[in-house]
Amino acid sequence: MSILPSITSSNVSSNVSFAASPDAHLILTTNPGLEDIAIAELQLQLQRAALPAARCELSPYGMAGAIDVTCECAQAELVAVGRTMRSIHHIHHPVGWIALTHTSGEPLRAIADFLHEAEIPEMRVANCFRVTGKRVGQHAFTSVDVQKVAGAALVAKYDCGVNLTQYDANILVNVYHDHCFIAAQLTDNPLDARYQYVYRPKVSLKSNVAYALLHLADLRPDNGIAAHQCEKDAPIFPKAEDDKPRVLLDPFCGSATILLEAAACLPNYQILGSDRYEQAVGWAHDNVAANKVTDRVAVVLGDARHLDKIYAPNSIDVIVTNPPFGAQLGANANFWDLYKNFLKSAWTVLKPSGRIAMLVWKRGAFNRAVKQFDYEIRHVRIMDMGGIYPGIFILEKEVL
Ligand SMILES: C[S@@+](CC[C@H](N)C(=O)[O-])C[C@H]1O[C@@H](n2cnc3c(N)ncnc32)[C@H](O)[C@@H]1O
Repeated sequence: MSILPSITSSNVSSNVSFAASPDAHLILTTNPGLEDIAIAELQLQLQRAALPAARCELSPYGMAGAIDVTCECAQAELVAVGRTMRSIHHIHHPVGWIALTHTSGEPLRAIADFLHEAEIPEMRVANCFRVTGKRVGQHAFTSVDVQKVAGAALVAKYDCGVNLTQYDANILVNVYHDHCFIAAQLTDNPLDARYQYVYRPKVSLKSNVAYALLHLADLRPDNGIAAHQCEKDAPIFPKAEDDKPRVLLDPFCGSATILLEAAACLPNYQILGSDRYEQAVGWAHDNVAANKVTDRVAVVLGDARHLDKIYAPNSIDVIVTNPPFGAQLGANANFWDLYKNFLKSAWTVLKPSGRIAMLVWKRGAFNRAVKQFDYEIRHVRIMDMGGIYPGIFILEKEVL
């Protein structure tokens, strides 16, 4: 099981300015626990773009969910590759890392001084900019103080206007305990916000997590997916040579994020979704239509504890899903019943060696339930989904 990196104070004791490096240099962000998937996707896309492999450092300076990427190519080439990625949220061009306790004077002054010295190419071409910041830890100043001080320093240096909504450059000034990370954020909207939603409940999954589940399902070429095939312009998960139709199911489909990601990534899969609630099935239909994939995706009403009443035995190649988490099922939720009956009926409808890739909220109940059936656990890890920590389980139906 992978261990989650935590957001910590870094032990870097002097300021670091990144401007001098001749190589392209970015920080990519994703959910803590999914960094290796982002790196695998990055290297694949670089290879397809005929660019050299990148050097990647996980959680630079203790920033969980961040990947420090350097590559011997032009900055614009690396940014263009980053923008094609499905596993990440944002792309940052790092400017510097300030050790606030090791600078003379007080921390806000140290941030202002650093910004006076640092060179930020994005600010040179901006007509207006904004500062965005977050603060982790106890400080004698607020986040607004940081933004004001940083904004004033940048106005003084670049003679550029501030505009919080219509900006050309978004400068991140994030304080983590006694350190400060400064970067230009190159993505306005997160890259995972790639679908049109007619309706999107709070519990919907981010599409980069849906991508991670597809990646981790690691479906072999004979199941239609060869994740590491590298022809330029081929889809990431290309068609199997035999062109046999394959079937993917999300039986807790909610607003259809996994179905949309599967439709985008899996060219020769028939994609099925079901949900126990009519309202959710309605959302899924609307969202599938809004993204123009109705010819690829079918959604029906059905209880995931009784999949054998909806789908034929041995008919599904892979189930990719996120069943409800705690609050959604209420205080008296019976996760044991949910997991046990889902796994039982999934075993019936999966083809031999078919796989399940799923997010698991109650790992104890799930581990007990999984032992009741003939599944091999192929992979387990824990990820951070905005302060909740589900497990990702990859199961395979054993051939008896
Ligand atoms: C965490 S949400 C899924 C979110 C979805 N991935 C999305 O992006 O919108 C869980 C879904 O499971 C559905 N659900 C709860 N119990 C169910 C059951 N027994 N069978 C099928 N669906 C169920 C809920 O209606 C909800 O839509």
